[in-house]
Amino acid sequence: MINFKEQAVKLIATKVSDLSNEEILELIEVPPSYDMGDYAFATFRLAKTFRKSPNVIAAELVEQLGDSEYFQKIEQVGPYVNFFIDREKLAEAVLSQIFTEKNNYGSSTMGDGKKVIVEFSSPNIAKPFHIGHIRTTVIGNSLSKIYKFLGFDVVTINHLGDYGTQFGMLISAYKKWGNREVIEANPIKELLALYVRFNSEADEDPSLKDEARYWFKELEDKNPEAIELWQWIRDISLKEFNRVYDMLNISFDSYAGESFYSDKMPAVLEEMKKKGIVQESEGALIVDLEPYGMPPALIMKKDGSTLYTTRDIAAAIYRKDHYDFYKNLYVVASQQNLHFKAWIKIVELMGHQWAKDCIHIPFGMVSLEEGTLSTRKGRVVFLEDVLNTAIENTLKIIEERNPNLENKKNVAKQIGIGAILFQELFNQRIKDYTFNWDRTLSFEGETGPYVQYSHARANSLLVKGGFSIEETADFSLLTNEDEINIIRLIYDFPNTIVDSMEKNEPYFITRQIVEIAKAFNKFYNSTPIIVEDTKLKNSRLALVYSVKTVLNTGLGLLGIEAPDKM
Ligand code: ARG
Repeated sequence: MINFKEQAVKLIATKVSDLSNEEILELIEVPPSYDMGDYAFATFRLAKTFRKSPNVIAAELVEQLGDSEYFQKIEQVGPYVNFFIDREKLAEAVLSQIFTEKNNYGSSTMGDGKKVIVEFSSPNIAKPFHIGHIRTTVIGNSLSKIYKFLGFDVVTINHLGDYGTQFGMLISAYKKWGNREVIEANPIKELLALYVRFNSEADEDPSLKDEARYWFKELEDKNPEAIELWQWIRDISLKEFNRVYDMLNISFDSYAGESFYSDKMPAVLEEMKKKGIVQESEGALIVDLEPYGMPPALIMKKDGSTLYTTRDIAAAIYRKDHYDFYKNLYVVASQQNLHFKAWIKIVELMGHQWAKDCIHIPFGMVSLEEGTLSTRKGRVVFLEDVLNTAIENTLKIIEERNPNLENKKNVAKQIGIGAILFQELFNQRIKDYTFNWDRTLSFEGETGPYVQYSHARANSLLVKGGFSIEETADFSLLTNEDEINIIRLIYDFPNTIVDSMEKNEPYFITRQIVEIAKAFNKFYNSTPIIVEDTKLKNSRLALVYSVKTVLNTGLGLLGIEAPDKM
């Protein structure tokens, strides 16, 4: 596709020999509104060399540049040279690209041969999969799709919290009060109840704690009974989690969680000792991180057991050996900032160059408005319940608005879940936000249902107009204001995807597809599409097809489905 910005750079370069193309590129801005052009070249930096005022330089430059096939107008406004892209050329360029690439429009080969690990979700076994897990799950899933679309070789990992002293507690509790059938009927709720009971009874009777430690040690020493129970707890928990992953269409390439690294720990400790970065402190092993402004990191307790930090270090080393990643991303809440800073520093101190490729992608917290989920204070809100509520609410809305819709249940699922995902991915990751049902499920405004609805509207126009991609369309007819607005946004879409990847921020895509949906609805209201004139009809349907394609791709990159009818 023609890169119009690059064309502007080349044009300027023919007249401004003092600056390299890169320097010119840096001086090109996007003006705040289109009536000031698509690009503006700022001349301030040339004032010294040319010994003239920026305004004069801009005026002279415009004169020298003359006409260009890519721009319909080049204008001086104050110190700026404003470039107006040729509308016919733009329409041609964008639409013919979409007609060739179809659902691959916006994809790239930039990631070819580069392996990216996206670790996300990573809940703790035997604990509820609650609303707090939604962010890592949804952001991580979207990032994995974005990297894949740009050609990276993506490996998704669910680093399950399936190891640690709490398993000693669970095993003890189960042996005392557990009942296999009762637990299997309702695994997470029952395991949580056992865990809570164990903790409260241990407050009364401290010997329970010793018992828990004993069972964890047995687990580490591979006592068959302990292993069998642990495996069972892991399996039934995962089965629960998988129900949610299935609803979200998420799967992982690997479920290697913390336990996977238990036998890899001694070698890591050995390596640290050899490199002289650990110290003994009251029988435990620590790494002094004071020079880096962090508290010491505990690597091994005095009873010889290892910790969360140790397991993360072992996991990173294993992943480097096993996958030879280009980037190793961790989508984990910002509460763990210090944890990540610390262990990545330790890996660096161990002399591993690639420590810089381990990247923590933090995000803020989600909270619930009081009352909306009939939450008693402190009650855990299960993610599955939230998703099901969204689906039920959507079904009610469909019953009111479009009771004859085919496949109502499935569409309600696509919209209800889509709405939640969309809201999750609407803001910068790091922002905290409050979950709100009305806003999430609204068909108006900047919501998932609104974008999905626009996609479905585009689809029904294509059906009604008998659109076929084989039919020739004259894209140069698409130059009215509303048409060209859509085309500009679609033109930017591939860059938006790259920006999302570089900043690990899916919300760039969310915002862009909302803008496209808005521009499309404006066009829909202002411009007759299925008109008598076949040539004009075909070209407008071609635009509708482009909108549908890009909305579909954009939603897909967020992990959201796009129903054809709703
Ligand atoms: N299981 C942890 C939790 O629920 C999150 C794991 C994050 N990943 C990691 N490699 N430390 O808090």
